[in-house]
Amino acid sequence: MSETFTVTVEPLGTELNCRADQTVLDACLRNGVWLPHACTHGTCGTCKAEVLDGEVDFGDASPYALLESDRDDGFALMCVAKPKEDIVIEGDIELEEGIEIYPVRDFSGTVTVLDEPAPNVKRLVIELTEPMPFNPGQYVQLNLPGGDNRPYSIASTPSDPSRIELHIKRSEGGAATDGWIFKDLAAGDAVTLSGPYGQFFFHPTKDKPLILLGSGTGLAPLKSILQHVAELDDEGEWEHDVVLFHGVATGADLYEHDWLTEFADERDWFSYRPAVSREEFDGRQGRVPQLLAEDFPRAGGNSAYICGNPAMVEDTMKALMQARLFPRDIYREDFFDSA
Ligand code: FES
Repeated sequence: MSETFTVTVEPLGTELNCRADQTVLDACLRNGVWLPHACTHGTCGTCKAEVLDGEVDFGDASPYALLESDRDDGFALMCVAKPKEDIVIEGDIELEEGIEIYPVRDFSGTVTVLDEPAPNVKRLVIELTEPMPFNPGQYVQLNLPGGDNRPYSIASTPSDPSRIELHIKRSEGGAATDGWIFKDLAAGDAVTLSGPYGQFFFHPTKDKPLILLGSGTGLAPLKSILQHVAELDDEGEWEHDVVLFHGVATGADLYEHDWLTEFADERDWFSYRPAVSREEFDGRQGRVPQLLAEDFPRAGGNSAYICGNPAMVEDTMKALMQARLFPRDIYREDFFDSA
């Protein structure tokens, strides 16, 4: 059994236990103490925090996310840092009102659906043995047979918290995808995961029309948000338009196309705008930022949620700001390779 240390999170002075082999972020999230985080794998820098007292093992922090000068100044990445003794950290724990945060826990379940809706994309549905409350847009860490894990966004609605749908893109030679999910995993298999993670989620207090922008399997968290909004609409609690842009390379990559087309046909407040960038297509051609600029020369008054590869997210962010949308109304999730 690994040694346990005390982590004190300032400015609230909250104390919690963290094992020497556990990351500080994991200990905080499992104890219901919110810390900012996104990738949870030491690459994005979102969880950077100051260690006010005590020593940490910096873990596998990317030198781009945690500079040498950051270390010298006493900062560490909480998603990979582990305590070497009792520590005190300064956490940026402010969350806007109206957001409920659910502690991270471990879950087990059975794969009930495993299909391939597009080339190199698997859709996985997992029935959990107990419900996992989450905010629409958050993700889980799926445990690999070898003990490692990978982050995947939840595509299903939080109103059905025992059923978790994931969209997984194949990465050539990847241990999780080529080594397991696209090779051996089958419907009926038992799996384990932890969650919910992430700060890319629907903000109910922003009472505004939505622009959802995704590329590839970046559609997953947007599908969760979309279904959640549709449920709000059914309850008479939603009165805005929602536009979804989904960018892919070829027409064959356009998964959920029929479902989204039908979803849009049935709801006058929802518009589905697929974008195919690398081949002729019976529809609009181009990348998501380009279509956005055409459709929204002015985007002020909306909230936008972007999810996809970092280049797409960055370009879309710029297009939104050029269309006069303030950064405070833009939420982004950069998908790094979950190979
Ligand atoms: Fe820690 Fe991304 S570097 S959450």
